[in-house]
Amino acid sequence: MVDWKNPPRLFIPGPIKVLPEVLEQLARPTLGHRGKEYSQLHGETVGMLKKMLSTEQSVFLSTSSASGVWEGCIRNCVKLDETILCTMCGAFSDKFAMVSRACGRTPDELKVEWGQAITADMIDKKLATGNYAAVTIVYNETSTGLTNPVYEISEMMKEKYPDVLVFVDAVSGMVGLPMHFDRLGWDVVFASVQKAFSIPPGLAVFAVSDRAMEKSKTVPDRGYYFDFQEFAKSAAKDQTPTTPAVPQIMALHYQCTRLLEEGMENVWARHKKMAEYARAWTKENFDLFAPEEYASNTLTAVKNNRGIKVAEVIAALQQKHNTVFGNGYGKLKQDVFRIAHMGDISLDDLKELLGWIDEEIK
Ligand SMILES: Cc1ncc(COP(=O)(O)O)c(C=O)c1O
Repeated sequence: MVDWKNPPRLFIPGPIKVLPEVLEQLARPTLGHRGKEYSQLHGETVGMLKKMLSTEQSVFLSTSSASGVWEGCIRNCVKLDETILCTMCGAFSDKFAMVSRACGRTPDELKVEWGQAITADMIDKKLATGNYAAVTIVYNETSTGLTNPVYEISEMMKEKYPDVLVFVDAVSGMVGLPMHFDRLGWDVVFASVQKAFSIPPGLAVFAVSDRAMEKSKTVPDRGYYFDFQEFAKSAAKDQTPTTPAVPQIMALHYQCTRLLEEGMENVWARHKKMAEYARAWTKENFDLFAPEEYASNTLTAVKNNRGIKVAEVIAALQQKHNTVFGNGYGKLKQDVFRIAHMGDISLDDLKELLGWIDEEIK
């Protein structure tokens, strides 16, 4: 018998653990979203996000999950007759291409096997063959536990294709992995708060470059809910175009304050340390699904090379410890399992979880 009021501790790759003090932020008295108090909350939060993402360009808050911003960046920045290069290396990068198609655009695909990385060289070869308006990249492919080499890709893009816009899905990467939006020359980056921000779902954060904002003015039929121009008009008043998820923004303010106090370099190092622990455990017991040089610091995808019954282990942990981790995504359901080590999940939490898995697989 399940009880949603007594849910399991979550080690799935999002949503993840939320600290009690973060939950308390969600219970604060609400604010009128056209009032001065909200503008104060909004302005301070966006100011902190700009520091965290190393940008002086636009940062917006969207009351949606991150999937909305997939649609937003396509509909705002790519005209119907322009071609996008969608790089695809797992379930979420595949979906980014699917959303481009659903928005009536014509994606050209650069596809590798799930578990492989997209490299700068691959993108370079592909872009050299045609006239592309934009490229989509998933920073951290949550389905395969893989981090694409986005810094190298960005250097190559700046040098060889400075006019091609770069859209980066950093849903499970933001906060946990290094990010220098302006220096990297990205045009849109986005994430949802239920990943490494360690906040309950309902809000997405995104940054947009000045040139993407200019381009968006020239793209017809941008829709309304994700229209970047609407976001910009409201941002000038430290507001959002529509009624925002105020509780999540209060929690985001709290989390950004903590993260900046810790220092982003330290936050990234903390994630790396947890990932190294998870990888060492994985190599001792199973194998990594992604090549180690690309293995993610926010989650580990474990290749189930011992043929354990993943669903049974998860069920046993839920029953004994009211704790769950992630099975493989989609077609990898039986062959992989995924363990989140991001946000407010601590190294001690991770050690406890892996100890419990050890007991089950002995
Ligand atoms: C890499 C990646 N992109 C996009 C999404 C979709 O995000 P959301 O569920 O917030 O719409 C996810 C969700 O897990 C993801 O991991």
